Amino acid sequence: MHRVIISGIGVEIPEPSITNEELVDSFNAWVEMENVRRQASGEALLQKSDSAFIVHASGVQTRHVIEREGILDPTRMAPRFPARPDDALSLEAEFGIASARKALDHAGLEPPDVDLVICSASHHQRPYPAIAIEMQQAMGTRGAGFDMGLGCSSAAAALHIAVNLVRAGAHRRVLVTTPEIITGHLNFRDRQTHFIFGDASVSMVVEGLAQGDKRPGRFEVLDTRTWTQMSNNIRTNLGYYTRTAQDDPYMINLEGNLIKQVGNKVFKEVTVAGHKFIVEFLAEHGLTPQAIRRFWLHQANARMNAMILKLSFGHEVDHDRAPMVLERLGNTAGAGAVVALSENHADMNAGDYGLLCAFGAGYSIGGALLRML
Ligand code: COA
Repeated sequence: MHRVIISGIGVEIPEPSITNEELVDSFNAWVEMENVRRQASGEALLQKSDSAFIVHASGVQTRHVIEREGILDPTRMAPRFPARPDDALSLEAEFGIASARKALDHAGLEPPDVDLVICSASHHQRPYPAIAIEMQQAMGTRGAGFDMGLGCSSAAAALHIAVNLVRAGAHRRVLVTTPEIITGHLNFRDRQTHFIFGDASVSMVVEGLAQGDKRPGRFEVLDTRTWTQMSNNIRTNLGYYTRTAQDDPYMINLEGNLIKQVGNKVFKEVTVAGHKFIVEFLAEHGLTPQAIRRFWLHQANARMNAMILKLSFGHEVDHDRAPMVLERLGNTAGAGAVVALSENHADMNAGDYGLLCAFGAGYSIGGALLRML
């Protein structure tokens, strides 16, 4: 059994950003146009969105996105990603590679040092060939690559697998990449969800710690764990059966097939499950939340994280103990907790414990107990 470390972390945030006010203006312009049609046909009218609600309910102020013009165009309300020929690098692989190169640089490694790529995201651009294999070819990593996903726990679940493969000796160095281009699948015409998500790509290099190797400033992964429990409260139905339920199977109707969620149920149920997961996971290692210097939690909702921490600690906990990046980036699905980790560990000392914990669709939770070397 090998000791395992995260030797490199890389984050890629797209340059363009959208404020709540910009998003709400475009949504409300669309509602006005749509309501003219609805009024004429006697359908129920839509309600407008509100940036004060968004900040109060979620904590999100801005989100970074790969392409903003299409999202903000009230006659379109979806990003515009031009089609690429099959022999060009796909958008998801490109976004994954952008953070993967930074993670390899951080680890002081070259692509051939990696013998497995796991591309794990809440949505993949296509089923096959795997995005991870495309990354493998474009970067020049050895061995193999495969795709997987577990909603917003995608990076944490892939870390769980990578750590155990390295620990067991099956692979020497695994590149875990989570390119979340969630705006591609978000329904920007849905008032309940249009403000929640943003795009981000994260990568981690997972490798064994050689005998006598010190690697100060890197994290040893002491343990990982995942938990799932079926729930329809965050769901997408778009898949390769979608067309088979439609009268015209060659024209896909997206109505009801994009991301939908019952936000307040997710909030309540995942808060309880997340707090239980954290307390039990730590207890297995003889630790209490108080012993953890820093928590890098999933970045879905500021109030939700505050509640999870309050339940875990028995009192309120400040942002130094559990930093948030949500305000600036929105919910970046699987990437969020890793962005929080990347941006908030430089002040930690050798021996400090940290807990990465992501949660979301499935329901799913993934955690990793880390200790700084
Ligand atoms: N603008 C203005 N009002 C809005 C709105 C918007 N964009 N969206 C919803 N509302 C209204 C609702 O219609 C409702 O009005 P009502 O009380 O008159 O019926 C009210 O705001 C409250 O709606 P609710 O859905 O209960 O809000 P909330 O406080 O639960 O906040 C979320 C919504 C989505 C921000 C919150 O539930 C959340 O973050 N949940 C967790 C999501 C999550 O973790 N997802 C994981 C994905 S990884």
